[in-house]
Amino acid sequence: MTHMHITVRSGGPLSGTASVPGDKSISHRALILGALADGTSEIRGFLPAGDTLATLDCIRKLGIQVEQPDLTTLVINGKGLYGLCPPDLPLDCKNAGTAMRLLAGVLAGQSYSCVLDGSPQLRRRPMARIVDPLREMGARIECADGRAPLYIYGSPLRGVMYEMPVASAQVKSCLLLAGLYATGHTTVIEPGPARDHTERLLLAMDAAVSVDHPRITVEPGGVLRPLDLTVPGDVSSAAFLLVAVLVAAREAIQLAGIGVNPTRTGILDILARMGADIQVTNLSYEAGEPVADLTVYPAGLQGARIGGDLIVRAIDEFPVLMVAATQAAGETRVSGAQELRVKETDRIAVMTAELRKLGAAIDEQPDGFVIVGPQRLAGAVVDGHGDHRVAMSLVLAGLCAEGETTVKNAACIDDSFPGFVEMLQTLGAEVEQNGE
Ligand code: S3P
Repeated sequence: MTHMHITVRSGGPLSGTASVPGDKSISHRALILGALADGTSEIRGFLPAGDTLATLDCIRKLGIQVEQPDLTTLVINGKGLYGLCPPDLPLDCKNAGTAMRLLAGVLAGQSYSCVLDGSPQLRRRPMARIVDPLREMGARIECADGRAPLYIYGSPLRGVMYEMPVASAQVKSCLLLAGLYATGHTTVIEPGPARDHTERLLLAMDAAVSVDHPRITVEPGGVLRPLDLTVPGDVSSAAFLLVAVLVAAREAIQLAGIGVNPTRTGILDILARMGADIQVTNLSYEAGEPVADLTVYPAGLQGARIGGDLIVRAIDEFPVLMVAATQAAGETRVSGAQELRVKETDRIAVMTAELRKLGAAIDEQPDGFVIVGPQRLAGAVVDGHGDHRVAMSLVLAGLCAEGETTVKNAACIDDSFPGFVEMLQTLGAEVEQNGE
């Protein structure tokens, strides 16, 4: 259903219990690192979504056998750091920036050549941020205008010290993975606390990684111990349910088994700053990743000022935060978030344009936005632009808008949150999806 659209009506308050699928970032990494491990990894709670299934397909095309006894369980027959085979065809990363940027790090140091490509949407995204530092390490990569397709001619790599100009977990992870194949050690210096799942998983696999913030260093070679991992629920997917409760519920909702890695929980801090009451209980650890249950209570929201480290710690949550801000009393001001312009879409521009169709008043800034609420929204036809987080955010805006809202181009929701519409239906939302 490429032309799926969603209709949603504001209505009865939401209630019930919900769960969210596995973490997307950890699912990508578990697959890639499991392929490089010496032996069999078992991954439970894998996210079977468009982005992560693209990585699964690439890993299989690199000659790794992966069994999937059920949708969310993977058994990966890792063949060690040097066990990948040259793929016959270009590897298709679809819409997944994480797949392309992390695989580029692995493939740059192989003894063969290959091509990484993706959807028209991914071909528009900046790749110079990985190609330039990989070239500093000795990689031979060709691409036009810093964009995919990436033609990677495997070559010997040398370790470097690289100070990242932007806080990006994809760039950091790409270079750490390349560092496994380099001579000497590779150090990445990050300007902010970008998600650290790669480091945590590498440590759980006994790789020689040392973390001394803001420096992360990896030594080459060695043997990666296989993973035995239950992927936590994705806090970025949970964010949609948290905001749904805050804008449209009368009862608390509990979400079990959510990843609460501090590099990912900026949204919890932001919502707390806006007046939300979110309890974090039952903390445990899974392959070095903290996991907990979240309970969110309905509350009136107030505007807040958001910048600094909160930007990278909540980078994927700003589309849904814009919706929350329209319902919050007073001014919400986000700055320093220019990275939002190079995501699946330019999320500042696209969310501003689409929320305005629902009657929202938004002051768009080069690096953020200002929204003064609470605002009355009115149902309209809006466009998800093939960006999963934009489409889901607009569905939530529809929950707050009077009358009916239609979100076109929403099939992309399956890139990260298959079952999103069904989940909202279970909570009592008047929402349905239709093919065109
Ligand atoms: C991701 C890192 C972030 C994030 C993306 C997933 C990852 O991107 O926005 O959704 O899994 O490493 P950047 O590294 O471009 O900030």
